[in-house]
Amino acid sequence: MKTNNPPLAIPFVDLNFQHQSIHKQLQKAIQTVVEQGDFILGQAVADFEVAFAAACNTKYGIGVASGTDAIALGLQACNIGRGDEVILPVNTFVGTLIGVLRAKAKPIFVDCDPHTALIDLQAAAKAVTPKTKAIIPVHLYGQMVSPQQLLDLAATYNLLIFEDAAQAHLAEREGYRAGSVGVAAAFSFYPSKNLGGWGDGGMVVTRDPQVAQAMTCLRNYGASRKYFHSHIGTNSRLDTIQAAVLHQKLPYLRQWNRDRLYIAQRYDTELAPLKARGIIPIENHSGNGHAYHLYVIRVCDSCPVERSAIQAQLTAAGIQSSIHYPIPCHLQPAFSNLGYRVGDFPHAEMLAKQILSLPIYPGLSNSQIKQVVSALAAIVSP
Ligand SMILES: Cc1ncc(COP(=O)(O)O)c(C=O)c1O
Repeated sequence: MKTNNPPLAIPFVDLNFQHQSIHKQLQKAIQTVVEQGDFILGQAVADFEVAFAAACNTKYGIGVASGTDAIALGLQACNIGRGDEVILPVNTFVGTLIGVLRAKAKPIFVDCDPHTALIDLQAAAKAVTPKTKAIIPVHLYGQMVSPQQLLDLAATYNLLIFEDAAQAHLAEREGYRAGSVGVAAAFSFYPSKNLGGWGDGGMVVTRDPQVAQAMTCLRNYGASRKYFHSHIGTNSRLDTIQAAVLHQKLPYLRQWNRDRLYIAQRYDTELAPLKARGIIPIENHSGNGHAYHLYVIRVCDSCPVERSAIQAQLTAAGIQSSIHYPIPCHLQPAFSNLGYRVGDFPHAEMLAKQILSLPIYPGLSNSQIKQVVSALAAIVSP
């Protein structure tokens, strides 16, 4: 089919570099699953669960079908449900919210810090009521919410911490690794994530054996042994083929995260002169521990060019960009019954209008980084 679009010189996501470098290994791992025929909860799932939990500095991993399922089932496994309030940032991917609603808990949104886009923990403290049972820090864009401040907040108000680490595989901050701060955490292995499968996948990691035990039931029809159902569960298992792919990729994740950090630092340096033109990167407060799932800039009011025009001109220059996320959760039509309105979360609403995500992935070359920066500079310069 013919299209009029120019070929994309720099796509927003390109997984070829990752896959080409270990293609044979990946094929072999899949072939092994096919030969063993253990497609459901096979050996590769158990092996990967152990390896990934260890990589997160925690104890148990329970593979599920997606990150959204990891949040929904993970909260249930932590005994969070009807009558419980759960605090979460309003500027997250909708999967966080859907997880809370599926667990039948009441989502309580809070605003974000406008500089880091991470949940505002002071606002979270103010949102606590006697019904608040948990807080979901979302380690957005690959940057962890401060573990120390989270643990202090949780101790003060007796809250359970359930991390949404869908964008933060192996991220670190203050000596903690994503997934090891709270009682449990959810990861997504959506293909473009820092650790992505060849399809959907997710995992709950936890240090609590009871949560792990409940999770193994919940993801498998609630069965604690075959045809004995102790929980009202569902069918949400990490495919054995996906686990085999993910396990092969896991040893490379550190290096791939380093590659992302390098790219982000190049962007930081080369975009610095554009601050005067209103182009301001989301701040990194976690040093080298930022996993940079996304590199996000703000097109502030002082920028002479509108974000939509910047994005269109980047596209015309062959550079794909994206917005994470253009509408905060409280303004999504599906959730209007939660009763929130425009103006409730000024920082999140402002960021939704300003943010723009630039290409970042292992394999993005120096010349491509320069190309992105030069195109941006040309667009916003007089
Ligand atoms: C912050 C966040 N939470 C939850 C999810 C849901 O994960 P999944 O797409 O695997 O259901 C995602 C990923 O898309 C995400 O980025």
